[in-house]
Amino acid sequence: MTYDFDRIVDRSGTASLKWDFRQERTGVADILPMWVADMDFAAPPEVVEAVKSRAAHGIYGYTGHPDSFFLAVRDWLNTEHNWEIEMDSVVVTPGVVPAINLAVQAFSQPQGKVIIQPPVYYPFMWALENNRRKVVFNPLIRENDSWRMDLEGFEKHARAGARMLILCSPHNPVGRVWNHGELSELSGICRRHDILVISDEIHADLAMPGHRHLPLETVAPDLKHDLVTCYAPSKTFNLAGLQISTVMIPSAEKRARFLAAMKTVGLGLSNPFGIAAAEAAYRHGQEWLRQLKTYIKANHDFLTGFCAQHIPWARPMPMEGTYLAWIDCSASGLDDDELTKRLRNKARVWLDEGPIFGPGGGGFQRMNLACPRVTLAEALERIKALPLF
Ligand SMILES: Cc1ncc(COP(=O)(O)O)c(C=O)c1O
Repeated sequence: MTYDFDRIVDRSGTASLKWDFRQERTGVADILPMWVADMDFAAPPEVVEAVKSRAAHGIYGYTGHPDSFFLAVRDWLNTEHNWEIEMDSVVVTPGVVPAINLAVQAFSQPQGKVIIQPPVYYPFMWALENNRRKVVFNPLIRENDSWRMDLEGFEKHARAGARMLILCSPHNPVGRVWNHGELSELSGICRRHDILVISDEIHADLAMPGHRHLPLETVAPDLKHDLVTCYAPSKTFNLAGLQISTVMIPSAEKRARFLAAMKTVGLGLSNPFGIAAAEAAYRHGQEWLRQLKTYIKANHDFLTGFCAQHIPWARPMPMEGTYLAWIDCSASGLDDDELTKRLRNKARVWLDEGPIFGPGGGGFQRMNLACPRVTLAEALERIKALPLF
């Protein structure tokens, strides 16, 4: 079956954060939203059917986690990522951001130093600030059009007392899919200095054709007892609103601490639609996902070609994974605030401005490419017409 990613689905009137709050959040009613990371594509048909069928039942009471759900997660990770998880290690949470906040509470101390590697998904910073931990920046290093981790810098911070890392793998927003060498060097440092890693692998399924995501647990089995991996079907199959994710915590002692943190806020059950959707996605979504990635890759090629021809001040970085393009706009000659203002108010395109991702984000804009090509083309036409000077 060929899936139609060109189809435009009108999302207005669904309380969509991306589409229905445009006026309220930007003051521009017809702005094209290409910021927050959800997709403008309908979920795979089997997922829609599973949700409809669950909805038709009519009773939506308290919902636990059936074995069939855990089996679907296990089989998916095994076939997609060659990762054999221990079923007991899985904890279900209503999102990766809540899971990261809980892990920060469970495994670090107030004022404890936690490393993040900016430019990076900004809720990492919020999780640390809101829980009163010390944010230790170990910025990525840019080399031409790529980015790498500063492993020497990382070890220095470890020596200076940091005891936790929040890793983004694949890395939002720079689009890197970390390779075996990088991950094993990183985990070696973690072992040497007793660093616990929260590995956010929410973009794992979105490694682009030609790239392969490596779960940290498979690269560094010896890190297993100091590893908390966050994973979810939400980015992969566009289920963010259903709020379902899994956290793999192989250490029984650490898992107990995480569950205790969940108890302090009364978490433990799930949304019945999330369970039904995730199970259907993991059981039936493989081909849909393959075609989705091909479509997104073609969107990135289209973006790159269009910029080269018509928007010379915008230079998209190669995107090894995620559906988020990281675009160097420093040649625009405008500072970040001014460029963002013009993109929103004049071009009427809503991107995420680089500085919100922390040090190293200046001069960049992040664009969500998970939309029909005509939407992307419209955004680019609007940006092309933007008066810069
Ligand atoms: C790296 C990363 N982690 C977590 C999330 C959000 O996770 P959730 O919606 O499950 O809280 C996102 C969403 O963009 C993300 O990019």
